[in-house]
Amino acid sequence: MKTIIVYYSLEGNTEFLVKALAENIGAETLMLEPIKAQKTKGFSKFVWGGYQAVMKKKPDLKPYDFKASDYDRIIFASPVWAGTFAPPLRTFFEREDLIAKKVAFFFTHEGGKGKTKEHFEEILADNHILGALDLITGKTDKEENMKKLLHWASQLKG
Ligand SMILES: Cc1cc2nc3c(=O)[nH]c(=O)nc-3n(C[C@H](O)[C@H](O)[C@H](O)COP(=O)(O)O)c2cc1C
Repeated sequence: MKTIIVYYSLEGNTEFLVKALAENIGAETLMLEPIKAQKTKGFSKFVWGGYQAVMKKKPDLKPYDFKASDYDRIIFASPVWAGTFAPPLRTFFEREDLIAKKVAFFFTHEGGKGKTKEHFEEILADNHILGALDLITGKTDKEENMKKLLHWASQLKG
């Protein structure tokens, strides 16, 4: 089974987990990279990023190679931004017409996951959702999250 993990990560929490999972299950990865530079320092990143997420912005992405038909399964991963998934995924979902694919998703947050699960479910409604997982970063040990994630992935049917 050929799997790809399509993800975004601003500060590395999600990426750390994506890399561990990819290695564990032998998946390819695709990191979505906005063209416009990210504000990664200080409080302004929350204002800027939160605004992007709430306004459902779709930032332009650097070119990438992806053809849904190349994969049996697609796993999405994102940090939670203002109670939803991060804007680069919104660009991807708009651009790629995903229908009848086997999909799963996980997301990282600091305790305020908001409607992220529901928003993923809504946008992936035309697909077969195999599973969803959220992981709390910051307070929870990285290795513990990794174990939870690998266990979750091993239980995905299909
Ligand atoms: C712009 C922005 C908005 C965020 N909004 C939330 C939020 O609504 N709820 C929450 O629990 N964490 C929120 N966070 C924290 C991140 O979801 C969390 O630290 C995540 O693990 C970061 O993943 P990353 O390191 O892969 O970027 C936010 C972080 C940023 C930068």
